[in-house]
Amino acid sequence: MEVEPLTPEEISSLYELDQTHWLHPQGDLGAPPGVVPQLMFSHGQGATLTDVHGRSYLDGMASLWNVNVGYGRPELAQAAAAQLTSLPFSSAYGGFGHLPGVRLATRLAELGPGDLEVTFFASGGAEANDTAYKIARLYWKLRGEPERVNIVSRLRDYHGLTMGATSATGLPVFWKNFEPLPPGFLHAPAPDPYRHQAGTAGETAGTAYARALEQVILDAGPETVAAVVAEPVQGAGGVIVPPQDYFPQVRQICDRHGVLLISDEVITGFGRTGRWFGLDHWGVKADLMVFAKGVTSGYLPLSGVMVTRQVHETLKSQRGPFAHGFTYSGHPTACALALRNLQIIEDEDLVARSAELGGRLLAGLQELRRHELVGDVRGLGLLAGVELVRDRESKESFDPALGVARRVWLATLEEGVIVRPLPGDVIAMSPPLTISAEEVDRLVDTLDRTIGAVATSL
Ligand SMILES: Cc1ncc(COP(=O)(O)O)c(C=O)c1O
Repeated sequence: MEVEPLTPEEISSLYELDQTHWLHPQGDLGAPPGVVPQLMFSHGQGATLTDVHGRSYLDGMASLWNVNVGYGRPELAQAAAAQLTSLPFSSAYGGFGHLPGVRLATRLAELGPGDLEVTFFASGGAEANDTAYKIARLYWKLRGEPERVNIVSRLRDYHGLTMGATSATGLPVFWKNFEPLPPGFLHAPAPDPYRHQAGTAGETAGTAYARALEQVILDAGPETVAAVVAEPVQGAGGVIVPPQDYFPQVRQICDRHGVLLISDEVITGFGRTGRWFGLDHWGVKADLMVFAKGVTSGYLPLSGVMVTRQVHETLKSQRGPFAHGFTYSGHPTACALALRNLQIIEDEDLVARSAELGGRLLAGLQELRRHELVGDVRGLGLLAGVELVRDRESKESFDPALGVARRVWLATLEEGVIVRPLPGDVIAMSPPLTISAEEVDRLVDTLDRTIGAVATSL
């Protein structure tokens, strides 16, 4: 795509205006110039982003784990343009609706695993998470158990940064200085196989972590717990793929205590892990499922919560208004674009492609274990992480002040490749599902070089 080039003066003025007027999400407030790379992108195609200087980057993160079908898809622009021309927006409140909304809800009911058949729409993942928690509480009020209000999540879960989602998020860095957080959120340990310390003889890591989650429910009193919310693979918390036997046991625990299971598929949905949805890997069905990102491949903001027919029936028993919703719950243009996006995923068999190229990515990353500081390599489909450690034997982490993963990230950027450093010195990758085999290899080769270079600089 042709993009008007900017002069060096225009670019430096834009950087200055950016610093002056834009409070960036998760920005680095007050970082001295030069410490944080400033990249301003102007266009993208496939898995490649190009910045205002005309420099190209292989986007190993699909921006924020979301541009699943890659950049520069004219079909999506056309779907949005057609809807913008016929009906850009109309309300979905009360008895109002529109064609893209009903069509997308119907399509999602076909795609959604298990009995998830009814969708509430929102714009972002955090809004959808808050919605799921509110639905869980309402559900129990309507079923005559009003004391069931607690939401149990796990440390290292990321559910977004509205007040409710911040509280469910299990990363304390997002709590600090925003207190008081709303009550009613409890955290179990992250189901991290790499960091598991064997305890009870013969017990698997999956059982140990599931038991720890059950203990949180028991300590709170099961009669106070409304729901467990969990990412099938923890993303921002470190790309943690749980043990095989973890989620089936979590499902059993929820059933045993009558607790709803909310699956947060914001990252893992729509093919990211090589299945349509993350929990499909373990044959586990949720009662509510939160989705966002991949539903539109990020081309427009759209998210939602799917609920089972049974949950929906309970909500309907209220026989009154559902006192929850957003102006953009079911934005028609976003819904029309999502329908086209889902068709691309299907037509191009991107779910199978994610499994296949994910296998190639993981196999390549495993080779990085030749570097002494690579402690763990993990992934599922086109979602992968490499954990760097100071001591491989003891799994001791680096001093966070050293910013080891961050150094790798900066060196990788220098080579024109984007990955993401996460807390705990994990390097995350989540490229577009359309990435080519050659681009996967370039991602791995670049990491190989940059990890090697950082290792020698420590
Ligand atoms: C698993 C998960 N849930 C929820 C969210 C929050 O989504 P949003 O940033 O759209 O609010 C994210 C964002 O990265 C996420 O990864």
